[in-house]
Amino acid sequence: MTDTLTRVLVTGAGGPAGIAVIRSLLARADVDVFAADMDGWASGLYLVPESRRRIVPAGRSETFVDELIGMCGDDRIDVLYSTVDVELPGLAARRDELSAVGTALAAPSHETLVTCLDKFRLAERVEGAARIPRTRLLNRAGVGEDWTFPVIVKPRSGAGSRGVRLIADRAALEALGEDESILIQENLPGEEFSVDVLAGLDGTVIAAVPRSRERVDSGVSIAGRTVRRAELSDTAAAVARAIGLTGVANVQLRYSVDGVPALLEVNPRFPGAMPLTIAAGVDMPSLLLDLVLGRPVPSSVDFAELANVRFLEDVFLDPGDVLVSENAAHSEGLEE
Ligand SMILES: Nc1ncnc2c1ncn2[C@@H]1O[C@H](COP(=O)(O)OP(=O)(O)OP(=O)(O)O)[C@@H](O)[C@H]1O
Ligand SMILES: [Mg+2]
Repeated sequence: MTDTLTRVLVTGAGGPAGIAVIRSLLARADVDVFAADMDGWASGLYLVPESRRRIVPAGRSETFVDELIGMCGDDRIDVLYSTVDVELPGLAARRDELSAVGTALAAPSHETLVTCLDKFRLAERVEGAARIPRTRLLNRAGVGEDWTFPVIVKPRSGAGSRGVRLIADRAALEALGEDESILIQENLPGEEFSVDVLAGLDGTVIAAVPRSRERVDSGVSIAGRTVRRAELSDTAAAVARAIGLTGVANVQLRYSVDGVPALLEVNPRFPGAMPLTIAAGVDMPSLLLDLVLGRPVPSSVDFAELANVRFLEDVFLDPGDVLVSENAAHSEGLEE
């Protein structure tokens, strides 16, 4: 009885996070999975039946949200997962219009997303709830503070480690001039961890799974291990509560000079390394579906220590079955 299946659309089917969410949901007998991407060559599209593959505009395009709302209505989508950063704020800002066509957005609130986008705002919000590296704007007052060098300088809103620099001394800091789109931050010299957090729709933290990123390729962890260490889970949970997280986020922590895990940033979406967290015992995409559908979910889910390595896998297609995507930015050189 296909009518009783929950219809779920997952965007970002070309990325590792999208593929992880699609695979998690495909494993459930009660879900009909639709996959979308801007690019017909996105591999995750070919994990779902042909009738379930969708091409969408680029997340940055002005028509993206309108088209998604239309698509969700036409396809009678019950739950929408977006795994693409640039899509999330626009979708979350119009959550009511999605619910008017019968679609629940499985993403944090617009307010939480906007807080995470700006690392200065994030630091202010979390101050007092968890250890925050000293963070100031690159302005006269910020530069004038009594810093211990080296310090980190990075954009307030950045991704992919672009613009992150270690500044050796005061002369080098002063030479940067003033720019309030840039942060000065205490250097955290210790080990770094990513903590995948799942919070209920009331903000209760259900799971916080710390993992190390042992090898990273193009910003995605390709080898790592989960680590059971309460101070990491507790810090990430405190951060999640401070930002009002509902759903899934990835909290990045790094040990300070005094040996305490401190907040680097929060990515309020599914990480590409989600398969490790799922295999370790916390199937966050599936649990989030139950939360969104109002079904019972355990109040706390534990995990095991587990390591992973990854490799690419080939999928062979009839060339005629590859979806055509005029709006794929790749061919136009628009992608960053
Ligand atoms: N205060 C800091 N102390 C030490 N290292 C830092 C600090 N801030 C950033 N870094 C280093 O730079 C990396 C990128 O920083 P951050 O996560 O804030 O920026 P991003 O552009 O969002 O990066 P990414 O998308 O690669 O995670 C961190 O993973 C960390 O290794
Ligand atoms: Mg980061």
